[in-house]
Amino acid sequence: MSKRVLTTESGAPVADNQNSATAGVGGPLLLQDQHLLEKLARFNRERIPERVVHARGSGAYGYFEVTDDVTAYTKANFLNQVGKRTDLFIRFSTVADSLGGADAVRDPRGFAVKFYTEEGNYDLVGNNTPVFFIKDPIKFPDFIHSQKRDPFTGKQEPDNVWDFWAHSPEATHQITWLMGDRGIPASYRHMNGYGSHTYQWTNAEGEAFFVKYHFKTNQGIRCLSSEQAAEVVGKDANSHQTDLLQAIERGVNPSWTLYVQIMPAAEAASYRFNPFDLTKVWPHADYPLQRVGRMVLDRNPDNVFAEVEQAAFSPNNFVPGIGPSPDKMLQGRLFAYADAHRYRLGVNHTQLPVNAPKATVADNYGRDGFMATRNGSRHDKNYEPNSYAGPAQTDQPLSAPLAVHGHTGTHAAPAHVKDDDFFQAGELYRLMSEEEKSRLVANIAGGLSQVSREDVIEKNIAHFHAADPDYGKRVEEAVRALRED
Ligand code: HEM
Repeated sequence: MSKRVLTTESGAPVADNQNSATAGVGGPLLLQDQHLLEKLARFNRERIPERVVHARGSGAYGYFEVTDDVTAYTKANFLNQVGKRTDLFIRFSTVADSLGGADAVRDPRGFAVKFYTEEGNYDLVGNNTPVFFIKDPIKFPDFIHSQKRDPFTGKQEPDNVWDFWAHSPEATHQITWLMGDRGIPASYRHMNGYGSHTYQWTNAEGEAFFVKYHFKTNQGIRCLSSEQAAEVVGKDANSHQTDLLQAIERGVNPSWTLYVQIMPAAEAASYRFNPFDLTKVWPHADYPLQRVGRMVLDRNPDNVFAEVEQAAFSPNNFVPGIGPSPDKMLQGRLFAYADAHRYRLGVNHTQLPVNAPKATVADNYGRDGFMATRNGSRHDKNYEPNSYAGPAQTDQPLSAPLAVHGHTGTHAAPAHVKDDDFFQAGELYRLMSEEEKSRLVANIAGGLSQVSREDVIEKNIAHFHAADPDYGKRVEEAVRALRED
């Protein structure tokens, strides 16, 4: 094998990679030292903006295999045959901290899957929690500001975290989830994933269904207590990355079984609560889990920056047969992600290998921009319609239309029989064992007792009371005891 030659970016051989060129022995550097200038300048540009949320993450490749026939509910091509396999890429993440944080922290986990289908990439950008803290995207920037590092102190502040929640009763369900045992997964392999939102499926006859996705881990759920997590973080801040990387390198390929809950579209308006409210789950007794297939992860990325840091998932990357519901949060996300990608990665981020379609090609009239690599051949027209057999629309609706009524305005959600923000938090609390309740209360009190304002503490306690009087009483007692210490 011939010896590899070190070159400049333009491919010219480098004579010396240890000594810069100088004017004479011991003299100043020369501007003509192209290799030195290029090396220093390129290094200065290695970092790109980190994700504004979900900055820390780990990725893996794998496949999805259909195990059950769901063609009665969706015409999505990648789900149309039992046994069919589709390549995918997944990125797991923590949410609040920046790249320098740790993995084993109390925080939701991102669970973003990109299916490389024959009808284009389908991105399902979910979390490990079936619900979320808020139900209107207009609150998202404020919510995230309150959870991330404070602009003055440079660290997460209990005052901000709990002040936002004091003003957001709808967060009580997700807080109960987060502060409970599942709040710190032991690893990315040992947690479930959820689409969280309600999505719409459309079958070949044009019939619409609303669905919720559940990826159940086949490794079993494993979590860490707050004390165990502190120990893990001290030993390995990248514990989730280490676990996933090593498992796949050893050939222990993690897998998840995908289920959906399916609601015929006509039932949505009269369901007892708003089925598009992201702070609520659909009870399985109403809409049981139906198995769809399994996801297996079997290959680590070769390069974390190229494939994980530059991965771009967007909830508006749908394929025919799958579309959005009227969930306001989801609607807000349909804008936010691709916009973030244009800022973080540039307008041509879809041409990067990890983001480009693999089972089909992108073929349209979008052109140019920074770093364009997908340019038409010399006879391709860059306008449409044209007389030159360029790509043309299909005239096939991608999904069924959504019903709308009323007038434009900044409306609250449509009224349903049971609209309150607390009953599902109470149901979750009552499902817990005595030990689980004690740990939940201790975790909440640990944070809430550090808040400086009494009124903020009281408002939060009132939310737990509204969920369940015993829950509220125990949180109140635990907070008071810690504050008297
Ligand atoms: C990442 C916005 C709610 C899951 C992001 C990013 C933005 C964002 C801007 C960074 C994207 C990037 O730079 O690549 C929002 C807004 C939300 C919202 C505006 C509410 C209106 C949610 C919800 C979920 C979620 C409800 C889960 C159900 C994720 C995940 C990532 C992410 C998993 C990381 C994706 C990756 O691994 O690259 N979000 N988000 N987000 N978000 Fe959201």
